Amino acid sequence: MRPTRSPVLLLWLLLCSGAGTEAIEPVSTTIAFGVVATLTAFITNYRTISNYYYECCHPEWIVFNRTGLEADLRSKLFGQHIASRIILKAVDGFMNNDNPKKPLVLSLHGWTGTGKNFISKLIANNIYKEGTKSSFFHLFASTYHFPHSSQYEHYKYQLKQWIKGNVTICERSMFVFDEMDKMHPGLIDGIKPFLDYYENLDGVSYRKAIFIFLSNAGSDKIVETALDFWNSAKTREEIQLRDLESLLSRAVFNDQQSGFYRTSLIDKNLVDFFVPLLPLESQHIVLCTMAEMKSRGMKPNQRLAEKVAKDLIYFPKTERVFAATGCKTIESKLDYYL
Ligand SMILES: Nc1ncnc2c1ncn2[C@@H]1O[C@H](COP(=O)(O)OP(=O)(O)OP(=O)(O)O)[C@@H](O)[C@H]1O
Ligand SMILES: *[C@@H]1O[C@H](CO)[C@@H](O)[C@H](O)[C@H]1NC(C)=O
Ligand SMILES: *[C@@H]1O[C@H](CO)[C@@H](O)[C@H](O)[C@H]1NC(C)=O
Ligand SMILES: [Mg+2]
Repeated sequence: MRPTRSPVLLLWLLLCSGAGTEAIEPVSTTIAFGVVATLTAFITNYRTISNYYYECCHPEWIVFNRTGLEADLRSKLFGQHIASRIILKAVDGFMNNDNPKKPLVLSLHGWTGTGKNFISKLIANNIYKEGTKSSFFHLFASTYHFPHSSQYEHYKYQLKQWIKGNVTICERSMFVFDEMDKMHPGLIDGIKPFLDYYENLDGVSYRKAIFIFLSNAGSDKIVETALDFWNSAKTREEIQLRDLESLLSRAVFNDQQSGFYRTSLIDKNLVDFFVPLLPLESQHIVLCTMAEMKSRGMKPNQRLAEKVAKDLIYFPKTERVFAATGCKTIESKLDYYL
């Protein structure tokens, strides 16, 4: 593997100058210096053009767009006033800090289909020009990437190498861990050092990276609170972070499944923000359906969207307030109505 990869890596480093001058060192010593110099001079002329084609760890490719994130959270994410506010503040503060003391670690909790993966996509879209297609954006799904719990030692080793390798290439890397509550304790243990207040580990600094954990842990408690508000005829927007914060951390603390998540990350204060996602109501399903119509280039049809929303399953059985699968199945359901 090595012989085929290193010329590509060298070319990449030359094209993306400044991406990792230290990384060039060991490579350049192994080949004639003159060749490098000539090649560099040659490529410099084309670098401006190449930058448009090869994604680099450069401000041309990685620039945080606060206006964009704010607009996306306001217009594309429905019914999540608490999450919107925390996400914007957290990401904006972090991206504008030139010298963060630790990487940004967010933990998103909520019922299925309420927008956890969607939020991580919106963040990526407003940091990387290439959005979630960026080579600096990494999504790990426990059941897909680490399916066999007996092999966790192997996964752990591999995951650590991946994080290290990718952050070495670009310090502004983003790692999303889906189904965090299904992750093997050993794996969580493996990523723990990357999240801490270290200047660097083996010469690599992880302080500008972003880690996002997604899970359903604590979603029952969030639903309970939302239902209490609904039952006492208070509006959804009256729910505040403090109504959920302690409930959420207690629920995650006491959850058997996420027990290790608690002891290793939460007790050590490695998670910067807990972000609760509220369960979605039928009005939000209508909005999701309309958005899906728009994204297909159709004229949004309110009547049809209301019909889609009406046919969904809601819970609890008596009140029928919250959509059982949130906005998750809308995309495929819509086909049935067209
Ligand atoms: N609050 C929301 N506002 C707008 N669209 C939403 C929202 N929640 C979900 N969606 C839509 O539904 C799709 C599925 O949502 P998403 O994958 O983010 O759910 P999730 O919270 O990750 O659920 P799960 O716990 O099942 O993984 C998204 O791609 C998005 O189009
Ligand atoms: C930031 O996002 C806004 C809204 O999406 C967009 O109009 C603007 O062009 C973006 N700015 C940059 C620098 O990409
Ligand atoms: C970066 O992460 C990806 C997984 O998202 C992995 O396949 C790749 O090997 C990693 N790169 C390095 C240099 O470790
Ligand atoms: Mg998800």
